[in-house]
Amino acid sequence: MTATIIDGTAISKKVREDIATQVQELKNKGVTPGLAVILVGDNQASKTYVANKEKTCRELGMYSVLLELPESTSQEELLAHINDLNQDEKIHGILVQLPLPGHIEEKAVLDAILPEKDVDGFHPVNIGRLMTGQDTLFPCTPYGIMVMLDHIGCNPEGKHAVVVGRSNIVGKPVGQLLLNRNATVTYCHSKTADLAKYTSDADILIAAVGVRDLIRAEHVKPGAVVIDVGMNRNEEGKLCGDVAFNDVKEVASFITPVPKGVGPMTITMLMHNTVKAAKRIHSL
Ligand code: GUN
Repeated sequence: MTATIIDGTAISKKVREDIATQVQELKNKGVTPGLAVILVGDNQASKTYVANKEKTCRELGMYSVLLELPESTSQEELLAHINDLNQDEKIHGILVQLPLPGHIEEKAVLDAILPEKDVDGFHPVNIGRLMTGQDTLFPCTPYGIMVMLDHIGCNPEGKHAVVVGRSNIVGKPVGQLLLNRNATVTYCHSKTADLAKYTSDADILIAAVGVRDLIRAEHVKPGAVVIDVGMNRNEEGKLCGDVAFNDVKEVASFITPVPKGVGPMTITMLMHNTVKAAKRIHSL
């Protein structure tokens, strides 16, 4: 069996069309969803991500502000910018691009964003809401994965979902979203003694560790749905995931490629969250 490839670009396009319609409806009611992105320092990868976020905002008819701050920005200065944006009525979503320079405490910055404007879903209030099964702004990559599963008709209820990786950005929240949809969830990580023992029982396998080719055919149950969140570079500098794609696609029923898999969904869900935040703030 050869797996069906889950086309993240195509799914993204569909979702973005729906978001553009919602943006127009909001504009008709006098509200233009607005996103502020803050970038501190000049990390090249971050610059590319941030430019893409701005471009997508514009394509969907949203308002966007990009704050590019120098590496030398103090924590106090950054917090003052966040405070201004918290109070800015034109801004419904605030995103601080990570990683931050070493002298700035990430937690203090994420905690300063109003939970209602926290379109990354990283604020402890939003994480708490996610854990207790309430609707809120969910982290973009995990949320994008759920939309992809829905799109291929994969209902997590009753399935064994194995999440490899336990980051705050992807692993932990995607496991929680799957649990909220009644999956049985197992988390694996760098200290897991026998990775294959767990992954080979997975109906849904999420790889989010950042180790190229960690997941090979022998790790995968025949017919499993495999989602690859890895963003690694090979020797030639080519983007590749955590899954040995060519081998695993012969075992899985569905698989996401890298690139053009989960990646495009992340920005799409950021746009979705910004529209959702605007609707909530204006009670629309
Ligand atoms: N850096 C890498 N991924 C992300 C993300 O999802 N959000 C933010 N703010 N920074 C990131």
